[in-house]
Amino acid sequence: MNLKGKSLLTLDDLSDEDFLGLIDLAQELKAKKQSGEKGDLLHRKNIAMIFEKSSTRTRCATSIAIAEEGGRAEYLSAQDIHLGKKESPADTARVLGRLFDGIMYRGFKQETADLLARYSGVPVWNGLTDESHPTQTLADLMTVKEHFGKLAGLKVVYVGDGRNNVANSLMLGCAKAGMNFVNCTPVELTPCDELVAHSKEIAEKNGGSVAVEHEPTAEVMRGAHVVTTDVWVSMGEEDKRDERIELLKPYQVNMEMMTATGNVDNDQVIFLHCLPAFHDKNTELTQYIGAMEVTNDVFEAPFSKVFDEAENRMHTIKAMLVASL
Ligand code: CP
Ligand code: NVA
Repeated sequence: MNLKGKSLLTLDDLSDEDFLGLIDLAQELKAKKQSGEKGDLLHRKNIAMIFEKSSTRTRCATSIAIAEEGGRAEYLSAQDIHLGKKESPADTARVLGRLFDGIMYRGFKQETADLLARYSGVPVWNGLTDESHPTQTLADLMTVKEHFGKLAGLKVVYVGDGRNNVANSLMLGCAKAGMNFVNCTPVELTPCDELVAHSKEIAEKNGGSVAVEHEPTAEVMRGAHVVTTDVWVSMGEEDKRDERIELLKPYQVNMEMMTATGNVDNDQVIFLHCLPAFHDKNTELTQYIGAMEVTNDVFEAPFSKVFDEAENRMHTIKAMLVASL
């Protein structure tokens, strides 16, 4: 694996081997941390963290990953800097590129991530845009690999908003890993044809498959090793809340769906969610309407590995930073 100096703007920036290599490296770094060994792989590296949207996991995972390997993180929220208001992405990028060794970017447009990479001259890592969430997929598949000891040949069913950032990156990541990926989503939220065709081509080359389905039937769920979903309303789409709730109600991941996999009793299925999740009356938003994309019993079940997945954000982001720098 040679990712030195490289950006990760979408998973297309990684060869299939490098994608799998980063998951292996993350597992090594996790074992290293657990053994108590101290890291210095980012010694004297300064990393800017531009966050235009809220974040708990990505922000904390990045800061901790940098600190644990002896580097230094500078958090820059949209309110702190001029980006997009008084200064273009190209100018901000040229300034930050003189000062920092790399930039983690979370924001709206994929184009901004591309511009930061083009003009800064240092690696830029996509910590989520409207279109993709590549570091999430690394953590998701690391969690699957920890549980099953392998990736290729496993069936992953994503149920929900099929064209959001998490779904897009997961489709491509599963294809790279030779998995059998099913995106189960309403027709209105079908992922873009070009991305589906591209992912299918990669999956088939790797002995896997990609399919889009529109009904979460028992047949679609049967044999799934991983069932996963994401919020129905992503950051920046708040005005679509009511229509999404109506559209996605039949796609709520519940115990019946999990049971339909046929893999609950033999411990051959896990549930994943990138988080944050609306699984109960646990938030300001759901206190009146209750769970949205996943029921509480599924979220809290022994087969739910969502907190392993959240922890693995740190190990995978660390692997990516270390490999690029
Ligand atoms: N999964 C994820 O990206 O979480 P945050 O929005 O908290 O970073
Ligand atoms: N699709 C979600 C992911 C959050 C981690 C969003 O963009 O809000």
